Amino acid sequence: MRLHGKGRALSERVDISELTAEVRRLAAKRDAVVLAHNYQRPEVQDAADFVGDSLGLARQAALAQARTIVFAGVRFMAETAKILAPDRAVLMPEVGAGCPMADMITAEQALAFKQAHPGVPLVTYVNSSAEVKAVSDVCCTSANAIEVVRSLGVGRVLFAPDRNLAAWVASRVPEVEVIAWDGFCPAHEQVTAEALLAQKQEHPEAEVLAHPECRPEVLALADAVLSTSGMLRYAAASASEEFIVVTEEGLLHGLAKAAPGKRFYGLHPAVLCPNMKLTTLAKVRDCLRDGTGAVEVPDEVRIKAAQAVERMVAIG
Ligand code: 13P
Ligand code: SF4
Repeated sequence: MRLHGKGRALSERVDISELTAEVRRLAAKRDAVVLAHNYQRPEVQDAADFVGDSLGLARQAALAQARTIVFAGVRFMAETAKILAPDRAVLMPEVGAGCPMADMITAEQALAFKQAHPGVPLVTYVNSSAEVKAVSDVCCTSANAIEVVRSLGVGRVLFAPDRNLAAWVASRVPEVEVIAWDGFCPAHEQVTAEALLAQKQEHPEAEVLAHPECRPEVLALADAVLSTSGMLRYAAASASEEFIVVTEEGLLHGLAKAAPGKRFYGLHPAVLCPNMKLTTLAKVRDCLRDGTGAVEVPDEVRIKAAQAVERMVAIG
């Protein structure tokens, strides 16, 4: 039985290395750059040209020289790439990969939110549809939300769709009143303070790194609240050897690479984004081979959304 297990693990590794080689060969043939989010499957991250957080990947898309961008992530990220690089083909290996938080506000709802608060700017988290971005004043990511709100120089902002990121920003920028939309990430929302306290008891020396999509009572227990790439940089630079990581478990792969030898603990139950896991290496290969999964944003939406998104990539 053990021999069988070892043999199977080996054949999986061979499959992955063959698929990775195919992905790289097809990317060169198609003149494509492969971008992958930090929550993607390890083998997808390892086959990509760039791995990053929403802000880093948006900036990579804006700079892309290649004719095609293959986006291993979720729809709002690929749409953001298309908004920033309209003359490039943007392909999603899995077109069904969405973000439930992004679906928690429509453009009509965003407009009504603004109309109920005349003159108050709408700051929209990048985890939103292109249509919602098009009616927003500025977008932000988890990496620059605080700086974006500060940059507006106003006393009140509307913030959509993430109520937890909004509460985090409000706690860090107390001079600004933040009026939040009632959306959330189902994966981060299920993290409880009790689950985190249990891990802290198991690993009392560990620093706690948490994503701002977590609830306020969870963030109150963290040593650092950071975007996914912020966590990679923090873990590499910190003197600590152990970390409890309060975000989607795909980040553990990048953390092990960014800070080799350090120890990283997830939570029980694990924080999982099923949409992020829909993209497989075989789908990345198929997309590169067949040119499928094109992401389109109609011009009238794209041009308006670009103003809010371009402001976002310029800040922080
Ligand atoms: P980051 O921009 O921090 O990578 O977060 C994206 C996301 O969807 C978190 O759930
Ligand atoms: Fe959306 Fe949450 Fe998944 Fe991020 S982790 S893509 S916010 S559902």
